[in-house]
Amino acid sequence: MGNKQEWKADRTRIQSWIEHLSQFNATPGTGNTRQLFTQEDIGGRRYIIDEMKALGLDVSCDDIGNIYGVCKGSGEGLAPVWSGSHIDTVYQGGAFDGISGVVCAMEAVRMIREKGIPHKRDLVVTVFSGEEPARFGMGCIGSRVLSGHLTTDQAKKLMDPDGISLYEAAKQAGYTPDCLERSIKKPGDVYASVELHIEQNALLEREGLPLGVVTSICAPSNFVVEVTGRSAHAGGMSMEDRRDAFTAACEMALAVEECGRNESQSEYSTATVGSVKVEPNQSNIIPGKVEFTIDIRDAGKESKDHIGKMILERMEAIAKKRGVQVSWRQQNNDAPMPCDLHIMEKIERYSEEMGIPYKKMVSGAFHDSMFLGEFCPVGMIFVPSRDGLSHCPEEWTDYQYLETGSQVLAAVLAELANEE
Ligand code: GLV
Ligand code: MN
Ligand code: MN
Repeated sequence: MGNKQEWKADRTRIQSWIEHLSQFNATPGTGNTRQLFTQEDIGGRRYIIDEMKALGLDVSCDDIGNIYGVCKGSGEGLAPVWSGSHIDTVYQGGAFDGISGVVCAMEAVRMIREKGIPHKRDLVVTVFSGEEPARFGMGCIGSRVLSGHLTTDQAKKLMDPDGISLYEAAKQAGYTPDCLERSIKKPGDVYASVELHIEQNALLEREGLPLGVVTSICAPSNFVVEVTGRSAHAGGMSMEDRRDAFTAACEMALAVEECGRNESQSEYSTATVGSVKVEPNQSNIIPGKVEFTIDIRDAGKESKDHIGKMILERMEAIAKKRGVQVSWRQQNNDAPMPCDLHIMEKIERYSEEMGIPYKKMVSGAFHDSMFLGEFCPVGMIFVPSRDGLSHCPEEWTDYQYLETGSQVLAAVLAELANEE
């Protein structure tokens, strides 16, 4: 079904939503920090809920705090069409990651309502809880729950660095995580979901393109590794006799990088050591213990699993050679998600109609759509990131791209919401 409309998004409104949301920030002056269920996140949620209500949406939250702003359709008993993303951030991240997808969905629905475009299915603006692993070490908390990959028992065991469980944090934030299983969606419960997101890479910018049509979403495997050596005097203990957990961990980190480069079976493999804790972390003591994280991504699960296997083998060999112990726990091994061909076709068609050049691309970052894809068809629209930077204070997307992105999004959502 065609949808020949003149869509005109309000760039100023989008900018104002993003700038307001940036004020809920635990590190003002040094990027945006709004971690799941902290007071900044709760403030941001209240703000977005109020703005959704001001648009005339009916707002509700589920047991893990996912937010749904519903614009009622005319049909009865039809599964809804979703569009949204997340408002939580990494530590000292940017103002656009996730937030862009929420405010552009709000703007898209606002345009549809303002034009009085009839739609049979409900249109729902979604905000998923804790897409970033920043607080609990595991990402996509809200969408993971919806797809049945995070239970109440697991939420009781997932801890933040202060020993507060996800379960407790959700309760303190006013949610009811006692039976997360009841939030699980079945195929058919949601008709389709479309997420707009910043690209977080420089491919669009390099080619001067305002829009990307995502074909599939790379998924992560995350590990926490512990290396145990022996603390001793930095001057007293000879170089031959020491069992330095940190230098062993450094060699392991280099092996992680090497495996990400050389063991890769696809062009989308990455392997990163992002967080390191050294004990006792004193200048004149040989480190006795190190904990570090490994984040492996790929567009294919087999390739990702192969890299993981090679890394673990290399770490064992390094530990043996250096006389230290190494152990690890795998936190998650998520599945890459292909985007729906019909939704991709709609994004392409409307981009062409609106004269917006685009390219098809794989998402190296993960997104809530990766989990939503387990119970409904998903599509993603990318908009350019300046210098390809994201997860840092410099993260930036020109508002003109959010304007055009939300226009394409509105057209796609209006079409999906009228399908039988
Ligand atoms: C999400 O922010 C990711 O790490 O890909
Ligand atoms: Mn992110
Ligand atoms: Mn994101």
